[in-house]
Amino acid sequence: MNTELYQEAESFIRQFYQEKGLSDVESRLNDVRAAIEDSGTYHHTYEELVYGAKVAWRNSNRCIGRLFWENLNVFDYRQLDEEEAIFQALLKHIDFATNGGRIRSTISIFRPKLNEKEVRIWNHQLVRYAGYETDDGVIGDPASVEFTKMCEALGWQGAGGSFDVLPLVIQIDDRAPKLFEIPSEKVLEVPLRHPEFDWFRDLELKWYAVPFISDMRLEIGGIEYTAAPFNGWYMGTEIGARNLADDFRYDLLPTVAKAMGLDTKRSASLWKDRALLELNQAVLHSYREDQVSIVDHHTAAEQFRLFEKKENNQNRQATGDWTWLIPPVSPAATHVFHSSYEDRMDSPNYFYQNEAYKKCPFH
Ligand code: ARG
Repeated sequence: MNTELYQEAESFIRQFYQEKGLSDVESRLNDVRAAIEDSGTYHHTYEELVYGAKVAWRNSNRCIGRLFWENLNVFDYRQLDEEEAIFQALLKHIDFATNGGRIRSTISIFRPKLNEKEVRIWNHQLVRYAGYETDDGVIGDPASVEFTKMCEALGWQGAGGSFDVLPLVIQIDDRAPKLFEIPSEKVLEVPLRHPEFDWFRDLELKWYAVPFISDMRLEIGGIEYTAAPFNGWYMGTEIGARNLADDFRYDLLPTVAKAMGLDTKRSASLWKDRALLELNQAVLHSYREDQVSIVDHHTAAEQFRLFEKKENNQNRQATGDWTWLIPPVSPAATHVFHSSYEDRMDSPNYFYQNEAYKKCPFH
């Protein structure tokens, strides 16, 4: 029997029964042990799955939004075994989570890995923009260049624009991956404008409403859910200080600063800082005006402070990865900067996994 699996299962099941105040854990453990002896694996009940996905969020050291870990909507899609059906489930996830802008934290869980057979979503996020290498640099999102090439090798043809939504690529076991275009009406986006600078609109910038991470592995009690896309809502700085600002992403600080009439020749003019501020203001203003859920980094830090307190009240100490928890704008203006966290990886949790498309023969 696979004792390593049983040990991880046992520790998870005990934690579940204890936190939920359930009785008769031993009878469940007997069933789990029998299933593992019999078949090499075991199945989570729906309640275990929901609890596992939520606690995995609670244990995600890099996430500042964990106050809301108990409000996670969990869709159990473990029975699906066709690419087309998984694609339809992903569309439902996108619809339900987007909810016209009132974003709902959601996870869809597909069948777990078993004997090296696994379901994989090749996309990093369900909705993300393509990146095309051209003679004068990248058009679109440089972070997507490799994956975009992969999609092209699989027969996809992008429009060559700055904000082309990539197709979904789904792979089951060792079958060929299948590509699906997301109908554009399913993808909520926010055109960016600034509360004071009218010219900002002319930059024709936008971003999508919902970040759906789709390439992480959810691990619960030794079971590996290799396809378990989840979403929350954005913190403004993710878009305004990173996606649109990093010089290896959309690199827009010089553009914004010049439009503001700043002296970009002297770093001491703080043109980068001033451009960052206005870009972030535009993001928060536009999402808010369009009634698309978003949180600013000060509010998010306050919510995280509350999470830490709630955890303490439960006699737990919030673990964290400080380097990720501090916001990229004005970090020292939040309590997180002045705190320290133990970066211990508790289970259940979400893990990085190898990029599925790197195993592909076209690569
Ligand atoms: N940082 C990623 C992005 O900008 C999204 C990560 C998840 N973010 C979240 N708010 N749940 O697309």
